[in-house]
Amino acid sequence: MTKQSIILGIESSCDETACAIIEQNGNILGNVISSQASIHAPNGGVVPEVAAREHLTAIRPVIKETLKQAGLSFEKIDGIAATGGPGLIGGVLIGTVTAKAIASACNLPYYAINHLEGHALTARFTHKLKFPYLLLLASGGHTQLLSINALGDYERYGTTLDDAAGEAFDKGAKILGLGYPGGPAIENAAKIGNPDAIKLPIPRQRYNDCHFSFSGLKTALAQAILKHPKPIPVADFAASLQATISASLANRSEIAMEKFVSSKLMPDEPVFVVAGGVAANKEIRRDLEYLATSKNFRMVLPPLEFCTDNAAMIAWVGMEYHLIGKHTGLDFAPKPRWPLDQEASPPPGRGVRK
Ligand code: KG4
Ligand code: ZN
Repeated sequence: MTKQSIILGIESSCDETACAIIEQNGNILGNVISSQASIHAPNGGVVPEVAAREHLTAIRPVIKETLKQAGLSFEKIDGIAATGGPGLIGGVLIGTVTAKAIASACNLPYYAINHLEGHALTARFTHKLKFPYLLLLASGGHTQLLSINALGDYERYGTTLDDAAGEAFDKGAKILGLGYPGGPAIENAAKIGNPDAIKLPIPRQRYNDCHFSFSGLKTALAQAILKHPKPIPVADFAASLQATISASLANRSEIAMEKFVSSKLMPDEPVFVVAGGVAANKEIRRDLEYLATSKNFRMVLPPLEFCTDNAAMIAWVGMEYHLIGKHTGLDFAPKPRWPLDQEASPPPGRGVRK
């Protein structure tokens, strides 16, 4: 048997310091995540300076632990990959400098990875998925619909004009006094709530495109609370907010499915992949699954640990580029903004997320 290539990946673009080691066949040899969620919880969101300091402390022990888990030393590794953006620049810098240092000390190729490409290609190692497929990425930092055509060839159908879907959960939870991270807190509170109790507007419903907008929802929620007799039924508010976010994700995804099906790349069996922390939400999964079935798409949900931020997805993208011999120069500069589809036309409105 020929030797499998092995890549070590580092992720540090938000509030997780993570390292993973992956083989060419998708087998994960080591996977360690150190989360800062409890440190940021009192602030109701990630504080960039605090996050950077935590990455600095965590990165060495996390890498050491990953190598230990895999039972490997750097001599057995064939390349070092690290998130090079987009994300919080302090964390991205720490991951990048660490990866470059290991690569140059061990004489290994270095791969600067786009964090979004990590999410985009996760289903390639979890489900051995072939190109092309349609992706909904819904996390705390991004909400995008993309046609994943081939390695390095991604067509962005839509993105958010302002807040991400996860942000809508986090901000909604803060307004409702439910704590951080807001997604699980809202989902839990919503279990005993009535999703039809509070009328919230489904964002951009009358636009026939794939772009999202969630910032108005936060204002609508705050106003509905102000108008409502006290004490407010928190469970009803949580259930209504969750249902509205889910409806928005589903109706934009439906337009994307129609676009994907009519594209020239349309495969025999169209696949719809959902990734990002918001994909943990059971109601959202159910709604998207229903949609996918009605549109004759096979829905693929990578296991949750690979849906949220992790380093296995970064190591995997490094592997894909390693296998075609396309490494990055050590002069690579981290990119706080790094759109996956460089040619995407800007969505309408200001404050555009890439
Ligand atoms: O992908 P992720 O772990 O990190 C990045 O933002 O990249 O996503 C985190 C986001 C947070 O906004 C969190 O509130 C949301 O995912 N989230 C959820 C759930 N679990 C996490 N949103 C809705 N329902 C959930 N169960
Ligand atoms: Zn992410």
